[in-house]
Amino acid sequence: MADNIRIAVTPGDGVGPEVVGEAIRCLEALRAKHDLALEWTRFPWPSHAWHESNGESMPEDALEQLKAYDAILLGALGDPGPIDDKNRYLLPDSISLAPLLDMRKGFDQWVCERPARLLPGARQYLADERARDIDMLVIRENSEGEYVSQGGRLRKGTPDEIATQMEVFTRKATDRIIRYGFEQARLRAAERVKEGRTRSFRTLDGRTCESQVCLITKRNALRHWGDMYTEAFEEISQEFPDVAIHHELVDAACMKFVQCPWAFDVVVASNLQGDILTDLAAVLSGGMGVAPSCNLNPTDPDSPSMFEPTHGSAPDIAGQGLADPTAMLFTTARMLEWLGRKDPALAAAGKELHDAVAADLAESKGGQRNTREIGTAICDRIAS
Ligand code: IPM
Ligand code: MN
Repeated sequence: MADNIRIAVTPGDGVGPEVVGEAIRCLEALRAKHDLALEWTRFPWPSHAWHESNGESMPEDALEQLKAYDAILLGALGDPGPIDDKNRYLLPDSISLAPLLDMRKGFDQWVCERPARLLPGARQYLADERARDIDMLVIRENSEGEYVSQGGRLRKGTPDEIATQMEVFTRKATDRIIRYGFEQARLRAAERVKEGRTRSFRTLDGRTCESQVCLITKRNALRHWGDMYTEAFEEISQEFPDVAIHHELVDAACMKFVQCPWAFDVVVASNLQGDILTDLAAVLSGGMGVAPSCNLNPTDPDSPSMFEPTHGSAPDIAGQGLADPTAMLFTTARMLEWLGRKDPALAAAGKELHDAVAADLAESKGGQRNTREIGTAICDRIAS
């Protein structure tokens, strides 16, 4: 018999353990129902608590340990709350969140996928009726760019202090993220056709396509990487004549995400710009409580990908059982679908979980339920 697929569960801080608890209950229900060859191990790190007792957020060999797993399911990192506890152990964000960046870099999770689709039942923040049709996939470059963490401070603490923070963009990483964007656009169009819900996007030469990739840069001010991205985009687009292309400057993109978000399909952005755009996109799809996120390494099957919702540790509501586990559960569904590359039964389980979470959302009608109640409703759906 083939080996089990193994998941490293890292609940982290704040609401992380609460929402991860519901993800585990759903995984248990799916495993029992379909006899899935799936197992998981829970890690007490990375976390604030681990830092408090060990002086570091995770052990030195953390990445080596995690490498033995097929995927990492992460809750949230950062201030664990509750915020009215003045004596709680606090760390600078740059320290408590560093493991997230270490995992992305260490496992070369070069794609960050953040879908933003306004599903029935999710809160519609925009008044325009057409906002119901929001359905985009933001693909964030996740390996370099503004996040290379190179630079430093000179003459620290003096009036002549200088801080430098470098941005690094390589042609290889640019090509791979743009090509990935086009491939996803094609796959999404094929999925839509199967579901009978086509969309159309105009090309510059007046044709219409079933899908689109919009590249976002700030090439009017940040010319060097902006021009390289633009050239790579033009070249790679030739391989995908069936996909419409579009470009927006990041500031205008923010405006259009609010003004006409239904006009976007796949969006490709740099690490920092993608980070900012995906908080906005999360709100367009109903808020942080429903927004999934995946850090993927599509090239190396031996390198675990990491699945964590877009939201953080939410110290203001931590420990009260109030966090909405929907984003975590959508993220878990995507993890299973991703692991379907190794075991097709997991892809089917991922779809089942996604559909159960979506059905629960559609029926929730915005009612107030706590973390456990939402998790239970979804587990019951799976078991029924
Ligand atoms: C995210 C977060 C992280 C990021 C932070 C916590 C370092 O905002 O996953 O979007 O900027 O990537
Ligand atoms: Mn972010």
